[in-house]
Amino acid sequence: MGMPFTTAKPLTTGTVECHLLCKQGMAIQRRQAVALVTGAAGFIGSHVAAELLARGFRVVGLDDLSGGFFQNIPKGMDFVRGSIMDRELIEQLFRMEKFAYVFHFAAYAAENLSHFIRTFNYQNNVLGSINLINASVNSKAVKCFVFASSAAVYGETASAATEITSPRPADPYAIAKYAIELDLQAAARLFKLPFIIYRFHNVYGEKQNIVDPYRNVIGIFMKQILQGIPLTVFGDGSQTRSFTHISEVAPVVAASVTHKGALNQIFNLGSNRKTPVIELAKLVSNAMGEKAAMKFLPQRNECHTVQCSHAKARSMFGDLIQSIGLEDGLNRMAKWVREAGIPESKPTFFDIEVTDQLPASWRKALKRRPAK
Ligand SMILES: NC(=O)c1ccc[n+]([C@@H]2O[C@H](COP(=O)([O-])OP(=O)(O)OC[C@H]3O[C@@H](n4cnc5c(N)ncnc54)[C@H](O)[C@@H]3O)[C@@H](O)[C@H]2O)c1
Repeated sequence: MGMPFTTAKPLTTGTVECHLLCKQGMAIQRRQAVALVTGAAGFIGSHVAAELLARGFRVVGLDDLSGGFFQNIPKGMDFVRGSIMDRELIEQLFRMEKFAYVFHFAAYAAENLSHFIRTFNYQNNVLGSINLINASVNSKAVKCFVFASSAAVYGETASAATEITSPRPADPYAIAKYAIELDLQAAARLFKLPFIIYRFHNVYGEKQNIVDPYRNVIGIFMKQILQGIPLTVFGDGSQTRSFTHISEVAPVVAASVTHKGALNQIFNLGSNRKTPVIELAKLVSNAMGEKAAMKFLPQRNECHTVQCSHAKARSMFGDLIQSIGLEDGLNRMAKWVREAGIPESKPTFFDIEVTDQLPASWRKALKRRPAK
């Protein structure tokens, strides 16, 4: 039996105890494999944590709540509020627990904003990740380090990219993801730290952050519908992505660490359907049961077409990969959004480092922000 669910006032510095927000089983169920899930209060991390709990793992979550929500954290796991950039905290966590698996989802995943927050992007998404990789190497107990990379590493694609297509990342977010992929491969060669890298493709669904104006287009559209304002589309909306419901992702990721053939492999994971953003806007309107108007904004600097082959993941994981149609997935998310409503906005990003080429709509949004 784990300890009862407790909450404590979060502190920003200090020991793991200071950061512990819920303690439900730490150091009690010793025989279960322990998984560390970073970004556990976020969208994908919280779903994977729930899948791990259902599979009998003991789960410790770490998240600084910068983009995730406390209410996302599944019951039954320990949760530490803190940053992957806090090296001392990470080292202490690894001293306290022998993590058999690390699932690393913590990142600020605003791809198109990353051009304008370059230092923060590399500090958070590269150096924060390195703190975890170092701790995993030093612990010698980690059997698999799972890394949430992105289809963004391919950059613009002329045809469906396979895992052996040379990545050509086109923005700092994607460059950071690719840097960590390369670092993990180097750590696997020298230190024998096994890894699995997933290149996710536009994952959406229940529990996703819908209040960050810089990312998660489906969440942005749903929020705009709830607010009764037009859906904002950059350019003519012909840019295509493969929108993938979380149920097609989380079970595979959680189960894969015990799949021997998956170790030290890279997998594209996502839907095969390519959808232009303009079509997506109509599908989201249908799912929300509203006929929403669209407002076209000047085109921004982004890849027009990103497409991937998922044949490798399908041949490795077979039935674990459930395909659900985009319409079904959007209906599920719309139901959740209608029930949950619009959460309180987070102070997404105040410190824009580069303003040249910053889309005008974002510049206006920044001007509207209250002073710190
Ligand atoms: N959702 C997608 O479409 C998608 C696609 C490709 C890759 N990914 C990757 O998957 C991962 C999860 O993405 P998501 O969509 O769930 O985003 P999310 O924002 O919902 O989750 C990320 C979580 O990380 C936390 N976080 C951020 N910086 C942190 C830090 N320094 N220390 C501790 N916690 C921190 C946030 O609070 C948030 O809860 C990310 O690494 C992202 O880059 C997501």
